[in-house]
Amino acid sequence: MTHRIVLINGDGIGAEVIPAARQVLEALNLPLTFIEAEAGFATFERCGDALPAETLAACAAADAALFGATSSPMGKVEGYRSPILTLRRHFDLYANLRPAVGSGIDLLIVRENTEGLYSQRERVEEGGATAIAERVITARASARIVRAACEQALRRRRRLTLVHKANVLKETCGLFRRVGFEVAAQYPTLAVDELLVDTAALLLAQDAKRFDVIVTTNLFGDILSDLAAGLTGGLGLAASANVGDGRFAVFEPVHGSAPDIAGQDRADPRAAILSAALLLDHLGCGEAAAHLRAVTYATPHSGSTRRTAAQIALALSA
Ligand code: IPM
Ligand code: MG
Repeated sequence: MTHRIVLINGDGIGAEVIPAARQVLEALNLPLTFIEAEAGFATFERCGDALPAETLAACAAADAALFGATSSPMGKVEGYRSPILTLRRHFDLYANLRPAVGSGIDLLIVRENTEGLYSQRERVEEGGATAIAERVITARASARIVRAACEQALRRRRRLTLVHKANVLKETCGLFRRVGFEVAAQYPTLAVDELLVDTAALLLAQDAKRFDVIVTTNLFGDILSDLAAGLTGGLGLAASANVGDGRFAVFEPVHGSAPDIAGQDRADPRAAILSAALLLDHLGCGEAAAHLRAVTYATPHSGSTRRTAAQIALALSA
C-alpha cells in the first residue's frame, strides 16, 4: 500500500521549499508516491486558471497534498481566486490546524476554514463609493470546528479558548459563541474559556504560554496564527493542516510565496517540512512524523534552502 501525495509548488519560494520537503520525505523511506501538479498566479497567467482541473483531479485521487504558496494579486483580477481558498472550499477542509511551538509556547490555533469573512460575498454599491463584505457564520460550521478543536484539546493539555468578538458582532460572533459553548459542554473533561479577539491578541503577545487550543472564526484565525508564528520562531517554522471529514487533506506552510527572496535558495524550508510532518500524522505515520519533527526543530536554518533540507535528510537517514 502506498500513500499518494500531490505536490503543488505554486509560486515564488514554493518552488524551493516543496522540493526540499520532498527530499526529506524521501529520506524517511516510507511507501509514498508523489504526483506533481500546478497552481498559482503563474499558472493563471499561462492558462487562465489558477487551479486547473487536472490539479483538482489529481487531488481527488490522492490521500493528501503538500502545498507551497501562491502569489495573489492585491487588487481584483478577473477570474483569479487564490488556489488554497478554492482547495479548502472544494474539498470542504473546514479545519485549519496551526500549531505554534517554541520559546516555551505550545499552542494550537484551530481556524474555521470555509466561511466568515472568506465567504466571497463582497460587493460595491453607490458606484464604488461603498464596499460591503458579508460575514457568513453558520451553526453547522461553528459546531464542527469547535468539535474538531475539542478533539484536539483532548489529545493535548485539555484547555480550550473560544475567541470571538461577540460584544460587537452580536449576530455572527454571537452565534459562533453560543454554538461553541453548546458543543464544548459535551466535553466535560476540558477546561473551556472565552476571549474577545483583541484581548486574545494582547494575551498572546504578553503570555502565550497560557494557551493550549484556541478555536476561532476564519479571519481572526488567519491573523492570530501569524501572531503566534511570530512569537515562536517566525514564519520559517509555521506549519498548517487543512482537514475535513474525508481522507484528503492539504498541508501548507503558513508563509507566503515571498517573491522578494524567491529563486535565491534562501527560504527556510522547515515550515514546509513541518507541514510534511503533519501530513505524515494524518496518514497514520505518527512515529515517522515525530522523528521528522524532532530532527527539524534540532536543525537551524543554514541560510540555504537546499543545505538545510540536505542536513535534515542526512540526520534522518543516520
Ligand atoms: C493563510 C494565507 C491565506 C489565507 C491567503 C494566501 C489566501 O494567509 O493560509 O493564512 O488568508 O487564508
Ligand atoms: Mg494567513
